[in-house]
Amino acid sequence: MIQAEFVISAVSTSDFPREGIPEIVFAGRSNVGKSSLINRLAGNAKLARTSSTPGKTQSINFYRIHGAFFFVDLPGFGYAKAGKFAVQQWKKLIEKYFENRPTIVLVIQLVDSRMPPTNLDFRLSEWLAKLKIPRMLAATKSDKLSNNQRSAAMRAIAKSFGVQSLIMSSAETGAGCKEIWKQVLQAIAVLESAKG
Ligand code: GTP
Ligand code: MG
Repeated sequence: MIQAEFVISAVSTSDFPREGIPEIVFAGRSNVGKSSLINRLAGNAKLARTSSTPGKTQSINFYRIHGAFFFVDLPGFGYAKAGKFAVQQWKKLIEKYFENRPTIVLVIQLVDSRMPPTNLDFRLSEWLAKLKIPRMLAATKSDKLSNNQRSAAMRAIAKSFGVQSLIMSSAETGAGCKEIWKQVLQAIAVLESAKG
């Protein structure tokens, strides 16, 4: 049983928690399945709110796991119906978040396994590299693909990001979740050992 609790829905930097515990961030396009994956990993379908309507998560939501670290659910980007102002606000908040959080130990960057990644996905990837924030890539909703489609999608997406491999995940079946947990725990261990 995983102990998970909602902490805060941050709409400005002053809302960000100050505990200084490690943060695992879920980032990606609107509707890609960030909140659903958090729920699956935490084993609690009601933890983060999900919706088939894109743009469900509009603030930065912090969930404390085992009292020891945060899962951070970001609002999705690329939501066509969001107004210019909302997009600007989103950008500002996310930029401030990534640029001022030394406690971020890992960003789980999600892309949809059924669609080619977009420019926004590549820009996020480049930006995280520039900020030297560790990132793992996962392709969501892999349950919607056949085995053949899955391996083809995995190769194509990895190639487009210039990486060797990535995780094919599903909030529906739990595929890939074991590997994601493994990397989450490794990322936290690295921070702990750096602290001494
Ligand atoms: P925003 O909060 O709008 O940025 O979206 P999000 O990335 O948090 O997506 P969310 O988890 O709300 O999921 C969007 C839709 O995709 C919902 O209808 C989910 O049920 C569905 N979904 C998410 N993950 C999976 C998955 O692994 N498999 C399938 N089949 N559906 C999924
Ligand atoms: Mg969400």
